[in-house]
Amino acid sequence: MTEYMTVDDNDVLPRDGTIKLHGPAGFDGMRKAGRLAAEILDALVPLVQPGVTTQALDDVVRQMTLDGGAVPATLGYRGYTHSCCISINHVVCHGIPSDKTLKDGDIVNIDVTPLLDGWHGDSSRMYLVGDVALKARRLVEVTYECLMIGIEQARPGARLGDIGSAIQNHAERQRYGVVREFCGHGVGRLFHDAPEVVHAGRPGTGPELRPGMFFTIEPMINLGKPPVKILEDGWTAVTRDRSLSAQFEHSIGITETGCEIFTASPTGLHSPPY
Ligand code: MF3
Ligand code: CO
Ligand code: CO
Repeated sequence: MTEYMTVDDNDVLPRDGTIKLHGPAGFDGMRKAGRLAAEILDALVPLVQPGVTTQALDDVVRQMTLDGGAVPATLGYRGYTHSCCISINHVVCHGIPSDKTLKDGDIVNIDVTPLLDGWHGDSSRMYLVGDVALKARRLVEVTYECLMIGIEQARPGARLGDIGSAIQNHAERQRYGVVREFCGHGVGRLFHDAPEVVHAGRPGTGPELRPGMFFTIEPMINLGKPPVKILEDGWTAVTRDRSLSAQFEHSIGITETGCEIFTASPTGLHSPPY
């Protein structure tokens, strides 16, 4: 049974699977945190170039987050010591910034989560480094479509399975693999909260969407098969078959009539080419 609770700004929030329903103050908080996330991702566009290290990009994310009056939610999260995740080519998610440089032809996901005034703005986009092969560009384009098709399902009365099903259908129509090991999640004053937002599923199944629900949709789509494995570092997830993987993420809130995307780019830099 899915439990819902209407939360007030000052409530202590249980982590017991209860789905929180937020009011206007929550929408306002998420709008600000989401806007900062989007501004950071916008600012990275001209910096994602061959030769740049992923650590240099992480430094920019940290500085912009702090300058925006926020802190990177990933810094110190479960022992993670960086301000974002940077996932290159066959890395599915949770790539750790390092002295590794970006190369011509790479496809790269950068995932940021500023924590601003108690609210988490969680978002990621893909970037193309120099000249990228058509099949990789196509994967990136379809992955963005998967995110937006998922978001189109997000309205009161729909179910989470409707979102997963729409994403899965779109990806599998191109014979891409949908990653099952990682899901979207409730978001708000908690970084990762209930519900689990699956990216593959059956229509009409799963928790019902209600106004005031905040969650991410963040499909990871592989050029090859769905399975992933985690590297020795305990974080980096890669495709088992070493095929390319792409991901986009937005944080959204369910409204009376549909949804609001908290992390939309204010300058129209939604997906490549930027
Ligand atoms: N931002 C990621 C997400 O979309 C979570 C990263 S947690 C980290 O949920 F510790 F790996 F950074
Ligand atoms: Co994220
Ligand atoms: Co997320």
